[in-house]
Amino acid sequence: MGCAIIGCGKALPALDVKNDELTALVDTSDEWISKRTGIKSRKVALDETNTDLAETASRQALGWADGGYHERRIAPEEIDLVVFATVTADTLVPSNAALLRRRLGLSNAACFDLNAACSGFVYALTVAESMIAASATANNRTNIVRALVVSAERPSRITNWVDRNTCVLLGDGAGAVVVEYDPDRPGILSSFIANEDDIHNALTCPMPLDIVPPFDAQGVNLAAATNVNKSHASIDEELDIIESLAAGDPRNVLRMNGQQVFKFSAHAMKQAVGEVCNRADVSLSDVALIVPHQANERIIDFAARRMGVPKEIFNLTIQHRGNSSAASVPSSLADAYEEGHIKKGDKVILVAFGGGFTLGAILYEV
Ligand code: ACO
Repeated sequence: MGCAIIGCGKALPALDVKNDELTALVDTSDEWISKRTGIKSRKVALDETNTDLAETASRQALGWADGGYHERRIAPEEIDLVVFATVTADTLVPSNAALLRRRLGLSNAACFDLNAACSGFVYALTVAESMIAASATANNRTNIVRALVVSAERPSRITNWVDRNTCVLLGDGAGAVVVEYDPDRPGILSSFIANEDDIHNALTCPMPLDIVPPFDAQGVNLAAATNVNKSHASIDEELDIIESLAAGDPRNVLRMNGQQVFKFSAHAMKQAVGEVCNRADVSLSDVALIVPHQANERIIDFAARRMGVPKEIFNLTIQHRGNSSAASVPSSLADAYEEGHIKKGDKVILVAFGGGFTLGAILYEV
């Protein structure tokens, strides 16, 4: 309670890639992709970095640029915290949050990145809200009053562009919100985050840590430095990708068993939405809008039927964006504000699921 979303923005790369264009890469068709996923085109970042996309989205959320939604202009020094959800950070060190802080001149902000795959933004907003609430109640003086919660993702950099099971689904983008402590507003009413084991390795992407230290158990061994596969063997085995590596597939790309993910996601959305409604004692029929992670329109259809709500309650942006991982919820939220689908007093749910498996939701009142 008392933690309000006061700004929201998004950014999309310039390049738009239509389904038909992918037929030059893999054996697919516009008809198959449209029918099975609802996707017609997706954005691919060529020159834009994660930091560039996050900066554009954040400037809108902070009220420094047109687009998105903001209640007022926030000064750089008013931001106390940046939480950046991503699986495709520009650098491991500094964090993407720290790169963004420097770009925007957020001189008072503590910064960190967070990886919860496609649920990253919901996790990040939950963490930011918890830190703001804890800060407010600990000594009745809020050290962290205002946070920038951002996600920028370039799945195009971890996509195997000759794997039709994944390359048709993904797209790049960014979204951001500003969240502020305000005891006079309802704001975030409840949140829920959880994990389930991905026992079948349905969604994996190994880390690109390719430097092998020049040692073996006896000490220095320069020859060891060349044996990249050996250094990753136990993880490759755990992720069940030995066979695909032997077949010559690239190592550091996203692999997915679509049907396993589909099964998980439909029940995850229902569970997460149910949890936040119960925790806030709000009936789903009183919710004006659900902004879901956009992975596949059929998942939304399925979830809507299982929840017994009309599909129209879901804000859908997948058609021209594809699955932009953790960025999909905040960029879709920015559209909902821009297009006037959200008004004062509305109850809104943000819900996501992703690799891990992660799931989560947030219920807030505007
Ligand atoms: N074009 C044409 N045919 C294809 C394509 C394609 N792009 N991709 C798969 N096929 C084929 C398969 O090879 C299979 O052929 P076969 O019957 O000859 O073996 C056939 O289509 C059916 O394949 P299925 O996997 O059964 O298709 P399904 O209806 O399940 O749709 C999809 C696949 C779209 C991937 C679906 O399972 C899905 O959306 N799953 C969830 C994905 C998701 O949510 N991912 C989120 C995580 S991504 C991330 O976190 C970054």
